[in-house]
Amino acid sequence: MQKILIIGSKGMLGQELVKTFKKDGDYKVIAWDREDIDITREKEVSKKIGFTKPNVIINAAAYNAVDKCESDKKEYKLALDINGKAPGYLAASAKKNKAILVHYSTNYVFNGEPEIPEPAGCSHSCASCSLHQGFQPEIGFNEDAKTSPINNYGKSKLLGEKEVEKNIKKYYIIRTSWLFGKPAISKDAKRSFFDIMLEVGKNPPADGKEVKAVEDENACFTYAPDLAKKTKEIVDAKKPFGIYHIVNSGPCTWYEAVVELYKQAKIKTKVIPVEGSEFPRPAKRPFYSVLVNTKLNPMRSWKEALKEYLKK
Ligand SMILES: NC(=O)c1ccc[n+]([C@@H]2O[C@H](COP(=O)([O-])OP(=O)(O)OC[C@H]3O[C@@H](n4cnc5c(N)ncnc54)[C@H](OP(=O)(O)O)[C@@H]3O)[C@@H](O)[C@H]2O)c1
Repeated sequence: MQKILIIGSKGMLGQELVKTFKKDGDYKVIAWDREDIDITREKEVSKKIGFTKPNVIINAAAYNAVDKCESDKKEYKLALDINGKAPGYLAASAKKNKAILVHYSTNYVFNGEPEIPEPAGCSHSCASCSLHQGFQPEIGFNEDAKTSPINNYGKSKLLGEKEVEKNIKKYYIIRTSWLFGKPAISKDAKRSFFDIMLEVGKNPPADGKEVKAVEDENACFTYAPDLAKKTKEIVDAKKPFGIYHIVNSGPCTWYEAVVELYKQAKIKTKVIPVEGSEFPRPAKRPFYSVLVNTKLNPMRSWKEALKEYLKK
């Protein structure tokens, strides 16, 4: 039997990881959250993990307040401690106890300007290049793409990736984006975009009875239960260690997402596409941060996953 330690077990993803691994009798699941461990305390991490001796450690704990850590220096320090340094402590403890480490990162480690791929064999004298006929490039960032975050949250998560890579070889870094699902248990838990937009759609603002949604940010939604299952598949199959991109299929904008949500939920409120500049926020968001997965079977589309979420 494998002993698996899930940290951040009350978070949006953590709860689903606990459920998913508990269903399999081959795993003994130990679920920890903030009251059981503070991952920013190096000695505490080393002592508690040394005592527990897990075979697998999954770190789903994180600092996710993207705007707060852009405008407030103390918050940025906290983000660097939780997202940046703590994964290094977990990696060192995992290595010492011969465990493997699964850690999550984000599409915000990229700057939003992906390189446009060319077909294999293209000589770049494209006026005479027939290879482009019918070639549909998958535009986005693959697992090896150059990282270059444009906000503090992204910088803190990139530091976490580097600390993991520096401290252990047996790691899976799973980058994901725009997570949705059952909110985390803690009192300050962020609700996911779909929950917020459902409420707004049912009670639209009095002025105009329409909802505005940003149309110039593109990424992929990820349903937390799907990500948890895919994580288990990677661990079970003993996939090669390294970086993975896991998202539901089909990039979209926030605007397209609200239109689909209201269609599925039969909400009649009108949705108006607007530029991100209509909602000024402290942290810049990448314009196009679609994660391209070249290593795993793709997951179902976000629209199907949304259907399941709404049913629940
Ligand atoms: N949410 C997204 O849209 C999104 C997008 C891309 C990537 N990700 C990544 O996906 C992973 C899971 O995110 P999530 O949305 O499920 O996170 P979440 O809901 O915010 O859950 C994180 C959990 O970690 C706990 N935690 C925070 N600091 C801790 C500490 N110092 N020690 C121990 N526990 C601590 C939190 O407790 P408190 O609530 O009490 O703080 C919370 O229960 C993270 O790595 C995140 O960066 C998320």
